[in-house]
Amino acid sequence: MSGSNSSTIFRLDASIRIEGSVTRAVADTLQATISAELGNPAVVRRDVGSVPLGGAVWADAALSRLLPAEQRTGEQRSAIELAGELADELASADTLVFAVPMYNFGVSQHFKTWYDIVSTDPRLAPGADDIAGRPAFLVTARGGGYGPGTPREGWDHATAWMQRVLVDVWGLDLETIETELTLAEVTPQMAELRDLAKQQLAASHDTARVVGRSVTHRLLTAS
Ligand SMILES: Cc1cc2nc3c(=O)[nH]c(=O)nc-3n(C[C@H](O)[C@H](O)[C@H](O)COP(=O)(O)O)c2cc1C
Repeated sequence: MSGSNSSTIFRLDASIRIEGSVTRAVADTLQATISAELGNPAVVRRDVGSVPLGGAVWADAALSRLLPAEQRTGEQRSAIELAGELADELASADTLVFAVPMYNFGVSQHFKTWYDIVSTDPRLAPGADDIAGRPAFLVTARGGGYGPGTPREGWDHATAWMQRVLVDVWGLDLETIETELTLAEVTPQMAELRDLAKQQLAASHDTARVVGRSVTHRLLTAS
């Protein structure tokens, strides 16, 4: 099926690398599938992995909301403006793709900073439902394995938090594509896991193609 409409994809990347990035590669497959099916939708990109947002922006944006406009500093006004710009990027899209790896057993600090800032905009604050129900994809990757029965079961403190805010706070209709063991290829102690790692990566690309086709079907039948 292919078609053409006025769809927009919002894509966020948080990997700190370009070359070899699994989240970027799987998100590329997903984006390419959606784009081919929809006939070149607009794509709005925010790459917080390559161009991180400033760490001080969130406090300025959050605290300035408590002040009357005329009492806000220049930094606070700029922070509110940036939050509005980030919120516009989300609000303008009908499909959302978040490509975010695990770092240090937790969420990428660049994604957390982005989330904190954009959540200061009233459209994305807890309780708002401006983007509720939109189809969204979390493409994540972890160097190790965290499944049931593995030594590090329970150490993944990234995925559940991301799902919590994307699903339960923003109300997105979220599909998660997870790839584990991405460090097997370069870690001698993980050598026996390399075949499994390759299978997992191939399965993630397959899943990206399947869910990409199914979301476009949904968008085309809704339009
Ligand atoms: C600084 C740093 C910290 C990392 N911490 C973890 C970790 O705690 N647990 C883990 O399983 N993998 C960890 N990794 C591996 C990444 O999750 C893995 O390489 C993933 O594929 C990165 O996403 P990308 O391929 O899109 O760049 C870390 C990687 C880096 C660079």
